[in-house]
Amino acid sequence: MPALFSWEFASDPYPAYAWLREHAPVHRTTLPSGVEAWLVTRYADARQALADQRLSKNPVHHAEPGKTGIPGERSAGLMTHLLNIDPPDHTRLRRLVSKAFTPRRVAAFAPRVQELTDRLIDGFAGRGSADLIHEFAFPLPIYAICDMLGVPAEDQDDFRDWAGMMIRHGGGPRGGVARSVKKIRGYLAELIHRKRGDLGDDLISGLIRASDHGDHLTEAEAVAMCFVLLFAGFETTINLIGNGTYALLRHPEQRALLQSSLAAGETGLLETGVEELLRYDGPVELATWRYATTGLTIGGQPIPAGDPVLVVLAAADRDPDRFGAPDTLDLARKDNQHLGYGHGIHYCLGAPLARLEGQTALATLLTRLPDLRLGADPDELRWRGGLIMRGLRTLPVEFTPSA
Ligand code: HEM
Repeated sequence: MPALFSWEFASDPYPAYAWLREHAPVHRTTLPSGVEAWLVTRYADARQALADQRLSKNPVHHAEPGKTGIPGERSAGLMTHLLNIDPPDHTRLRRLVSKAFTPRRVAAFAPRVQELTDRLIDGFAGRGSADLIHEFAFPLPIYAICDMLGVPAEDQDDFRDWAGMMIRHGGGPRGGVARSVKKIRGYLAELIHRKRGDLGDDLISGLIRASDHGDHLTEAEAVAMCFVLLFAGFETTINLIGNGTYALLRHPEQRALLQSSLAAGETGLLETGVEELLRYDGPVELATWRYATTGLTIGGQPIPAGDPVLVVLAAADRDPDRFGAPDTLDLARKDNQHLGYGHGIHYCLGAPLARLEGQTALATLLTRLPDLRLGADPDELRWRGGLIMRGLRTLPVEFTPSA
């Protein structure tokens, strides 16, 4: 039985997941926080569990409420958002935000994402080296989502600081993080209040409009919604860009294929490629918490009511029973129904925005810095040790300086 959640595990969890899939596909373990939870690692079981409504997202169903250590339990109100609630509230809120967060709105945002991407690359292109996490993958999604929500440009650097604080400390509910959460909450409440009197073309105004025409959104729900949009869309996208660039740098033949397809003006390989990068080393290692509301069976394993269940997306997406050559990065992979964005009613609401950002970021990087290479030994790279997310702390790169 390989050690889970160790330092080696954080840098490469895939061998341990292969072992679990084969020997203990639904496995009860003690998490670093001391909480006991079931890990589900096979694709078929994972997909079924993600769609099983007997598994609640609401922490009140944990047999030992207050023990999961997720920030939500301590900041009630802010955390009554999509990822912590079940139908019928979930259905109502999701319908409401879907009216504002439309594929059309995302598509119209493409030129802005391109502009942000270019501006960030301009910041280091002339230097010949950079840390792609701090200078690129980290700021891009925070500025993008702030813009989309309608956070004024002069306030966006505050968000960058608050978000950096939350990410550095793994989102835990202590000290500086609690202060950042409080500041963000206060700021969002005030911004929503202001927008009510002066509706614009942004997502917050869209949410207010949608809630004034039918389903009602309370002030607290509106704040929680903006909070989840910020934080569900932030660290995930950093990791898509970070893990994705890293995987490409480690697979020169795949990266060369992508570069020649981009040079030929094609987008097909970029589109399948970003999906494959999500499957191969996706940003969300474990789906967010679920709790058994009743005794149930997953993959033949009985789970008692009240037990937490963690679906390991990273393990399911390497399952040889679902994917041919699952440990091979194949940017042209076609049959690729990966679980990187989840599945079922909580399927990622921001997937169109994430795809837009991921595709724009990777295509622009490889086009503007064609000889991009790793600036450190892969063994020296450090991965964040969080439970839910998988991503690099830094990604040093080198390249020929360009204007
Ligand atoms: C839900 C992944 C980007 C907003 C989810 C879930 C996953 C996921 C796995 C489901 C979690 C679960 O069932 O426990 C990702 C990945 C992203 C990404 C891999 C980037 C590559 C975004 C962006 C936004 C966003 C950019 C918004 C701006 C959301 C929201 C939910 C969600 C609001 C909750 C949906 C619900 O519960 O109905 N995401 N996400 N995500 N995501 Fe994303």
